[in-house]
Amino acid sequence: MTQALWTLDAMREATGGRTLGRAVPVISGISIDSRTARAGDAFFAIRGDTHDGHDFVNAALANGASLAVVDQARISAMPPGAPLLAVQDVLEALVTLGKAARARSTGRIIGVTGSVGKTSTKDALALVLSREGETHAAVASFNNHWGVPLTLARMPEAARFGVFEMGMNHAGEISPLTRMVRPHVAIITTIAPVHLENLGSIEAIADAKAEIFEGVEPGGAVVINRDVAQFAQLEQAARARGIDTVVSFGADAKADARLVGLSMQADCSYVSAVIMGDAIAYKVGAPGRHVVLNSLGVLAAARLAGADLALSGLALAHLTPPQGRGQRHVLDMRGGEAVLIDESYNANPVSMRAALALLGQTPAGERGRRIAVMGDMLELGPDAQVLHRDLAPAVVETGTDLVFASGPLMKAMFEALPADRQGAWRGSSAELQPLVLDALRAGDVVMVKGSNGSRMGPIVKALVAAHAASEAPRLKAAQG
Ligand SMILES: Nc1ncnc2c1ncn2[C@@H]1O[C@H](COP(=O)(O)OP(=O)(O)OP(=O)(O)O)[C@@H](O)[C@H]1O
Ligand SMILES: [Mg+2]
Repeated sequence: MTQALWTLDAMREATGGRTLGRAVPVISGISIDSRTARAGDAFFAIRGDTHDGHDFVNAALANGASLAVVDQARISAMPPGAPLLAVQDVLEALVTLGKAARARSTGRIIGVTGSVGKTSTKDALALVLSREGETHAAVASFNNHWGVPLTLARMPEAARFGVFEMGMNHAGEISPLTRMVRPHVAIITTIAPVHLENLGSIEAIADAKAEIFEGVEPGGAVVINRDVAQFAQLEQAARARGIDTVVSFGADAKADARLVGLSMQADCSYVSAVIMGDAIAYKVGAPGRHVVLNSLGVLAAARLAGADLALSGLALAHLTPPQGRGQRHVLDMRGGEAVLIDESYNANPVSMRAALALLGQTPAGERGRRIAVMGDMLELGPDAQVLHRDLAPAVVETGTDLVFASGPLMKAMFEALPADRQGAWRGSSAELQPLVLDALRAGDVVMVKGSNGSRMGPIVKALVAAHAASEAPRLKAAQG
């Protein structure tokens, strides 16, 4: 017997829809993808960029979905007798159902935005809060105009905590999302030149992120990165919204949740910190200074949501990097092993620097080299060339021995490198791939990163496939 998420009556009431066919009284899940629809789900036939969900209603029902939510105008094209909820507009119905989920919830709700680190922070918060009570969070980023209402609509009534990621490409996009989510605690992870193309300036990016404050519940709190240059701007924006509780986090000595001591290991970090007046020492189970900085915001937000600080700290030892964001593989090589750091999920100048730092702190084997495989960072606007070239000093400073680069933008970075660090540059990741496979030796550490559109993921896949990798390496601790 599957658990009820929604009664049909409640769905009808929330969406203003009309039921047709053999509808069942309870729904156990919400789906927007017929391939993953499960028994008991309500399938929302959303129209995406390439597909129209209405064409997949049959498939969803065949997979066991109990109900299809469809446009009123399309019901004549639906299979006769199919269990349907006919609405004016399917996406709008998902939004109203999401709002109904929020309205019925008595849980503490946390909203996360920022230029990078949203999913990492969301996942870490979900890990920490689930120690305290039933916690609802999306399995993936799900941070846009359909992802947020979908995640809301999937929130069980009994959840004690809900964690929601909100993203944007343009100004004005976070505003409607945060008004749906109505967080008790809103976090801004960091501000960085991502989507500069659309927003024009870093201050404009900060303003767009600050839209998250618009939805904060009365008496709610915000958690803001103290280390970014736009901190004062963000704090002021929160105060202007009447939010009294502004908690800052970071390495800055004035941060309310601040880093006091840090020992970075190859596969984890040991941290001492003061979180809103209380000292705590804890282990973070994934490596990288950026992960540690995110963890300060996580502890502050968890505390503001009512979680126990010591238990939260303990939970962070079990953190693992989300897919493509620092995951490690051990590659079986002739004569030993190599380590692959998969950062292929996405890239921008901040996360690229963080990944280079991560590579730099990962110990290489005897005669092994630190190799960075770097693809273009997209959507950076007119300064893209400069933002790429400016990475060259970071490559050198982090102790990267050899660089393989692809894409027209990374060419500028590659050409700015000292000759002895230049492995190879090619126009595309597909052309670069065989050179990377060829170059890798036992003892090497290789980090692969680029924007989604730069297709660095296939290089990771090829390396893993060629060297029958395992996922849970045993790594020696980094020195120093
Ligand atoms: N605070 C940080 N500073 C720099 N890099 C970070 C930080 N947090 C995470 N990263 C890195 O940024 C990349 C993206 O992380 P994550 O997926 O958490 O971000 P996101 O904001 O959810 O991205 P998206 O906008 O694509 O949903 C990863 O490579 C991750 O390791
Ligand atoms: Mg994300």
